[in-house]
Amino acid sequence: MQGKALPGFRDFYPEDLTLRNHIFATWRSVAARYGFEEYDGPPLESLEMYTQKSGEEIVQQLYSFRDKGDREVALRPEMTPTLARMVAARVQALKKPIRWFSIPQLFRYERQQRGRLREHFQLNMDIIGEASPLADAELMAAAVDIMRALGLGPQDVRLRVSDRRLLKALLATRGITETQLPVAFAVLDRSERVPKNVLEEMLRDAGYGKREMDAVFQVASLPGEGALGAGGEAAEPLRQAVAALEAMGLGEFVSIDLTVVRGLAYYTGIVWELFDAQKALRAIAGGGRYDALLNLPALGFGMGDVVLGELLKERGVTPKASIELGAFLIAVGGEDMPWVLKLAHALRERGIAVEYGLRHTGVRKQLELAAARAAPRAVIIGPEERQAGLAVVRDLKAGTEAKVPLDKLLNGYFD
Ligand code: HAM
Repeated sequence: MQGKALPGFRDFYPEDLTLRNHIFATWRSVAARYGFEEYDGPPLESLEMYTQKSGEEIVQQLYSFRDKGDREVALRPEMTPTLARMVAARVQALKKPIRWFSIPQLFRYERQQRGRLREHFQLNMDIIGEASPLADAELMAAAVDIMRALGLGPQDVRLRVSDRRLLKALLATRGITETQLPVAFAVLDRSERVPKNVLEEMLRDAGYGKREMDAVFQVASLPGEGALGAGGEAAEPLRQAVAALEAMGLGEFVSIDLTVVRGLAYYTGIVWELFDAQKALRAIAGGGRYDALLNLPALGFGMGDVVLGELLKERGVTPKASIELGAFLIAVGGEDMPWVLKLAHALRERGIAVEYGLRHTGVRKQLELAAARAAPRAVIIGPEERQAGLAVVRDLKAGTEAKVPLDKLLNGYFD
């Protein structure tokens, strides 16, 4: 048997799944607070859907194959095309704005690197049918509130926001034409990760002269306030979205950063990414407005579980074990076992988590097992206790003992 999962795929041992469930529970509770409904779609879709909608980078990373019915299919690398398909199929009937979220597992054949695997879970929150920048602010606020609910603050994470419409306007006033834009965007997107000479080469290959090249680098280095000032009309949506975040008291998390463009092809307006404050890790989340994909105002974001999990571990804000026992039950002699079974079952019926040794051993062995299972207390039943209708409850931390009537144990003792 193969000793390991495929590269980039994860085994979730119980402690790993505890963290994943904690992240999912937080995602679901914040999404609910913002009034989002959960949906899902199929993990396998037609290949064409992604080749048409997702853009070059994701298409190169697809897990695709021909199925037995001779269809070209792909494991979903992102949720947005599925969402667009589902919404388009019922566009008349659905009440807008639609506020939906989903937690799909996604598959991308990525180059191995820290924070990027070949499968991940991604929270998607999208709003469809609303053009106002308040909708952009709403999604950014939800992403920040997820961080806050997980115990992270502005010293841990930063939201970096830009707007493709503003970038376009700033580049246009510097003489960059519509056809030259895609390369300019690609260069801005990579400007922090790729050396300048490589970026210059990209621009030169696309026919950029010295003056246009300088213009791109100038825009990349514009400070936030400057960008808003220079952008005129085109800066208005971004200005409003940032003001809304400030009004919510989340301004500390936000910075305007014109090097945020996002790799995906479909974005048309405000785009943003959430990073750890040191920017030592890959993006935690990214999203933006994609009004052209559905011919409707639409916007959303994706937040993966991989970088987020790493950050939570790094900051020591991971959850405790998933199981917390109320008690470990102990039978003094083999003949006490039926009473232990009866009590255990009655407690479980009341929603209290209990365990007992699945084979009868000496009391000391059973106490060891109770300690190994991190039970806070042992409930001990022997012949005397049976006679008296009670149990000895030993606090396993303090080492103290008390006699508790069985009736009381079953009614309110564990509340
Ligand atoms: P994305 O930027 O490709 O956007 O992914 C969003 C987030 O998913 C990333 O910031 C990262 O946390 C996580 N992620 C992506 N790829 C991987 C990977 N290989 N391993 C681990 N984590 C990963 C989208 O997918 C858009 N569809 C999001 C969106 C929804 N835009 C609008 N609505």
